Amino acid sequence: MENLLQKITSFAKQKGFVNQSSEIYGGFESCYDYGFLGTELKNNIKKQWWKNMVQMRENIVGIDSSILMSPKVWEASGHLTAGFADVLVECKECHKRFRKDYLKNNKCPECGGELGKEKKFNLMMKTSVGSVEDKKAVTYLRGETCQGIFMNYEFMRDSMRMKVPFGIAQIGKAFRNEITPRYFVFKMREFEQMEMQYFVHPDKTKKWFDWWKEERINWYINLGVNKKNLKFREHKKDKLAHYAKRAIDIEYKFPWGWDEIEGIHNRGDWDLSTHSKHSGKDLYYDEKSNKRFIPHVIETSAGVDRSFLVFLMDAYEEVKGGRTKTTKSTKEKEIILKIDKKITPIKVAILPLVKNKPKIVKKSKQIFDLIKPYFMSWYDEVGSIGRRYRRQDEIGTMWCVTIDFDSLKDGAVTVRDRNTMKQERIKIKNLINYLQEKLK
Ligand code: GAP
Repeated sequence: MENLLQKITSFAKQKGFVNQSSEIYGGFESCYDYGFLGTELKNNIKKQWWKNMVQMRENIVGIDSSILMSPKVWEASGHLTAGFADVLVECKECHKRFRKDYLKNNKCPECGGELGKEKKFNLMMKTSVGSVEDKKAVTYLRGETCQGIFMNYEFMRDSMRMKVPFGIAQIGKAFRNEITPRYFVFKMREFEQMEMQYFVHPDKTKKWFDWWKEERINWYINLGVNKKNLKFREHKKDKLAHYAKRAIDIEYKFPWGWDEIEGIHNRGDWDLSTHSKHSGKDLYYDEKSNKRFIPHVIETSAGVDRSFLVFLMDAYEEVKGGRTKTTKSTKEKEIILKIDKKITPIKVAILPLVKNKPKIVKKSKQIFDLIKPYFMSWYDEVGSIGRRYRRQDEIGTMWCVTIDFDSLKDGAVTVRDRNTMKQERIKIKNLINYLQEKLK
C-alpha cells in the first residue's frame, strides 16, 4: 500500500502537478512547488472551501492577514514556549534526531545506536525584520494562520457588525520547523491552511463543535472522497495542544495508515483572553442584555496540501488493459483521475480530429477561443485521438471536445465524458450552455 504514495509522488511529478523545491540544486527537503495542474487543483480546492465556508454562510466573513506579525502575538499565544514543540531524542552515535512519539523502542531507527535524553524542540521559524543590521527585530513566520484571525476579531466584529455566533475564515501559508517532514506534501515545513474560527457563547461550545465536525467531514464527501476512507478521531485529554479543550481530527486512510487531514478544536477562551491580557485591549463581547463575555472559539483547521493529496489519491485509478474494449490498448494499464468536476484542474480539452487539415485546426482554435473565458481549457493536437483521450483521462479532464470533418458542415462537435466515455453530438452554438449545465 505504501507503494501508492510512491506512485502518486512520481505521477504528480510526471504530469505537472508537483515538483520538489529547488530541484536543479538537488532539492530542498520538506518544501514542494506546485506546477500548472497542481496549482489549478489547489486553487479549485481553496475556491470550493471559500465558497462553502464564506460565500454560502451569512455569518462568516473572510480575511487575508499578514504572515509576519508582532512577536508579541506569539509570546501571548503560547507558541514560543514548550506548548508548540515536539519532543525529540538524539542518537548518541549518528546524531540524527527523531520524534519521540514516532519511535517503536529506545534504539535509533537508522543505526540502532543509543538514544539521548528527550528535548523539546520549538516549531516556530525565526526571521528578522528591518534593514539596519543592529536594529533588526526578531519575529516569526506564522505557525498557524488563525492568530491573524484573532488579531482581526475586533476589527471584523465591529466593521462588519457581526453578532455571536459568527465566524472569520482565512486561507494562507503557515510554517513549522518540523523535525520529521515526510510523506510528500503531507508534512512539510511550509504549507497552507484553511482555517475558520467560530466565536460562540461559552454555553454553546458543545453544540457548535458537534455541528462543525459534521459540516466539515461532509465537505470532503460532497467533493467525491470515498466515505469509507474518512473517519473521526478524538484526542485524549492528556494529548491536547496547549490551546485546546477538546479536539477531533478528520482522518483519511492513507497508504501508511489513518492520519490527520483536519482538526476541529474547541479553543475555549484561550486566545481572546490571552491576547486581551497581553495587549491590554478589552476583547469582551457585549450582548444586548449587557451581559459581557469572552466568546469561546470552535475552530476548523484544514490543510490545503493534505486535502490536495487526499483528492488526488482518492481519485487515482489504474485500469488493467484499459477501459476501451473496441480498440486495443496501447498500454498494459490506463490511468484515470476520477476527480470531482468542480475541482479538476482542466474542465475541457479541445481536440481537432487531425492536425494536418487547416480548416479543422482553424475551427478548433476558434472553439478554444470561444470557451476559454468560461472554463479552464486545454488545446491538444498531438497524437492519435485515442491517445489524446487517455492523456486527458490521466489528468482528470472532464470533457473532451472533438472537431471532425462533419463539424465543418453541421456546426456540431463531439463531447466525450471522462467517466462514462459516452459521446454526444452538440451544436457549437449550444456548447457553452451545455457545458455550464453539466458543471452545475
Ligand atoms: N490552528 C490549529 C492548527 O494549526 P493543527 O492540527 O496543528 O492545528 C491543522 O493543523 C491542519 O494543518 C492539519 O490538520 C493539517 O491539515 C495542516 N498541517 C499542519 N501541519 C502541517 C505540515 N507540517 N504540513 C502540511 N500540513 C500541515
